[in-house]
This record gives sequence, structure tokens and C-alpha cells, in this order.
Amino acid sequence: MKVILCDTNEAICKSWVKFLGRNIRSSSEARFQFHIHHGSLEPLLKGESSTNCAVVSPGNSFGYLGGGFDLAIRNYLGGEKFESWFRQQIGPGYHHVGSSTVVDLGVGSGSGSQIWGNRGIRYIIHVPTMVAPSKPLYDPNFPMRTGYEPVFNATWNSLASSISLNVDTLIIPGLCSGWVGVPVEVTCKSMCFALRLYAMRNQMSVDLQNALIMYFLKYPFKPFMRSSFKEECRELNINVNQLKNFDAERDSIESIMPGM
Ligand code: ADP
Ligand code: NA
Ligand code: NA
Repeated sequence: MKVILCDTNEAICKSWVKFLGRNIRSSSEARFQFHIHHGSLEPLLKGESSTNCAVVSPGNSFGYLGGGFDLAIRNYLGGEKFESWFRQQIGPGYHHVGSSTVVDLGVGSGSGSQIWGNRGIRYIIHVPTMVAPSKPLYDPNFPMRTGYEPVFNATWNSLASSISLNVDTLIIPGLCSGWVGVPVEVTCKSMCFALRLYAMRNQMSVDLQNALIMYFLKYPFKPFMRSSFKEECRELNINVNQLKNFDAERDSIESIMPGM
């Protein structure tokens, strides 16, 4: 799967480069290939020839597409007509932050699908990052709860949906880095940790993957750690002490990833 990280904000693109790391960006044989597109969604899509492309919409709980990256999606696909069709598809009710809903543009109900079904996007993955854009949500006193964690969750959900849909190209903007107000470094570090861990998930046990997530998100819980955890860390060159003391603000992603 090709993962295209797309944002008009240059600082975000630079930060993705930094946090993805050289190894993962240059590994051509990997099952995941990462690309960074500094610029808008529309020219990116016009240059893509994917047949099974998904675009992540970091929206709100009611599916309105009136701002940020969602507005770019709306403008590209058919304006307000598209928005009302889209809201019908997800169900116009409440979708909580942390949920994800897939809209298939390929199977249409009604005539609308003929307009937006063949514009190079097969799926929109709707991951609400806020209830409504009433106020920014990030609180610098609680960077984990209001930054790293919601960004990690939205990224993980987007990847899991794409895999189960057999997507060939996944386009993701900075998540929570617009209206939600999460700082660039926080958004990009958390997104890149999720992307890198997901890309490596066949190289470690699920239990170790879970342990890395618990330590990254600061929910260390012994009963959920397998006894083989330390041994696997040793095999993969992960320093257990570094992992146990991991602080997302301070420490590098490399310090808890398997050694290369
Ligand atoms: P959130 O509500 O999660 O903060 P936004 O949709 O407000 O999400 O913004 C997400 C990201 O999308 C931001 O980093 C912003 O720079 C980027 N963005 C906004 N418009 C575009 C566009 N037309 N093309 C590419 N990126 C965009
Ligand atoms: Na948005
Ligand atoms: Na949002």
C-alpha cells in the first residue's frame, strides 16, 4: 500500500520527513511505501492513477465538510451536493471522536454517485477529530490526552480501515493539526509512530506491538504484558528500560523501535 501524507503546511511536511526516518522512507520492498506531498489535495489526485484510493477526512461528529481538509474533499468531489450525499451515507447523526466510518464512492445510491464516483477516490474514511469546530481542543498542559493519543487513534483507525478495504493508495493529511490545534511536532510524531509501527507489524508479535502502544501512550499495565515480552525486546534490539521510561515529548521514536 502506498501511503501519501499530504498537507499544504510546509512545517508539517518537514516534520513528517524527520519522524518517518530514513530507513522507512527508502525501503522500496516494504509492504508500505511512504510519500510526502507538500501541496493541496486536488493536484495530487489529478496526478494519481490509483483504482482503489482512500482519502482520510479528519472531520467533525456530524459529517459537515465546511472547513480544512474536508472542504478540499468537498470542493473536489461536488460541493454541497456531495456533502449532503456524504452525510446521508455516514448517517447524519452523531459520530464520536475516535470512531471511523467508510463511505464507498464506487457503489452509489442515486444519481449523485455518477458525479463523484469516478474522480480517482474510491473511499472516504471519515475520522471525526472534533465534535464541532467551536474551539481548539489541544491543551498544552495535557499533550498526551489532547494531542498524541487522539492523533495516534485517528491514524491507526485509518490504517486498519484501509487494510480491510484492500486499498492501494491511502491519502492522509495532518490529523488534528488544523482546527483542532495540535502542534505540528505532536501531530507528526504521533502519526509517524503509528505509521511505522503499523508498517512493522508483521515483524513482531501482536503482544509486543501492544506493549509499545501502551508505553507510547503512557498506559503501562503489567497484566497486559506477556512474559515473553522482554525476551522479544532483546531479540529485536529494543532497550526495555528505555521503553519503560519512554516520554513522547522527550524521546525519539527510534529509541523504542526495533533496531535496524
Ligand atoms: P483537524 O480538524 O483534524 O484539525 P483540518 O481539516 O482542520 O483537521 O486540518 C487538517 C490538515 O489539513 C491541516 O494540517 C491543514 O494544513 C491541512 N489542509 C487543509 N486544507 C488542505 C488542502 N486543501 N490540501 C492539503 N492539506 C490541507
Ligand atoms: Na477537518
Ligand atoms: Na476535524
